Amino acid sequence: MLSLLKISLLLVGVAVAQDATYANRIYHDFRSRNRCGLASEPANITTEDESISASVQPGYLTSDTFVNDFGIQTWGTEVSKDSPIRKLNSNGNVYIQRDADSSSAYLVLRAYRTDAFISSAEIESKLHNIFHASIRIRARVRGDPGTCAGIFTYHDDENESDIEILTRDPTDHVRYTNQPGLDEDGNEIPGASVEAVMGGGAVWTAWNDYRLDWTPGLSSWYLNGELAHTKTYGVPTEPSTFILNMWGDGGVWTGDMEIGAAAYLDIEWVEVLYNTA
Ligand SMILES: *[C@@H]1O[C@H](CO)[C@@H](O)[C@H](O)[C@H]1NC(C)=O
Ligand SMILES: *[C@@H]1O[C@H](CO)[C@@H](O)[C@H](O)[C@H]1NC(C)=O
Repeated sequence: MLSLLKISLLLVGVAVAQDATYANRIYHDFRSRNRCGLASEPANITTEDESISASVQPGYLTSDTFVNDFGIQTWGTEVSKDSPIRKLNSNGNVYIQRDADSSSAYLVLRAYRTDAFISSAEIESKLHNIFHASIRIRARVRGDPGTCAGIFTYHDDENESDIEILTRDPTDHVRYTNQPGLDEDGNEIPGASVEAVMGGGAVWTAWNDYRLDWTPGLSSWYLNGELAHTKTYGVPTEPSTFILNMWGDGGVWTGDMEIGAAAYLDIEWVEVLYNTA
């Protein structure tokens, strides 16, 4: 009786995700890339010179297989009213590391707070015309508060669909957002962003399967195979890029990051099933 009730409540609360078919696939499994993986973390980027001169880790990240699909970003953002700390992406914050306890490996995106800026990491798909997709990723986040691990589709600030883990949040909370999240006066738009409890005992400091399905008129987020949230608000209507990043800017969203602090988005594998516009 009790379980029947639970099931019907769930069905009322969560719209059923749409079935979709996809013609294309991007897939990178970093677990088997242990031969080019570092045994331990490379030195933190502490100056602008180190940030700019850092080269891409040779091996898988310089292979055609990876380079054909993703570009490692090296641009930055200046200080603004909403972003009190400079952010500077570096090649040095994107690397494959060997797992200490197994023969496995994973891709790391790192953010580190220097005294002058946040040294961040971002990879973007070479494709800019992804139009509807199922994004699946096995990931873990660890480190200090003040950063955002982002897994998202992007066209512009009004066509963006996100999975975000904020390292200032409790370790069992994840954010599911369709932009725009704020109105013209900077106030939060109700329904744009949800702070969801991960459920099932899951915490983002451990490995989890995250998934975002972008279908016409509906966004659906899954965690470890279970439908977790749906939105009809702000479902992107423009062809988009796929982005993974680890960043902070001292603003309201990411919060403050202490000088000398670091945080990491670890990725075992990423799969993007997609159609194009
Ligand atoms: C980078 O900074 C973090 C945070 O202070 C620290 O835990 C980590 O050991 C540093 N990495 C290296 C390679 O020293
Ligand atoms: C996406 O971009 C189009 C064209 O600029 C705009 O009309 C629309 O409001 C944007 N956002 C969504 C969620 O469609």
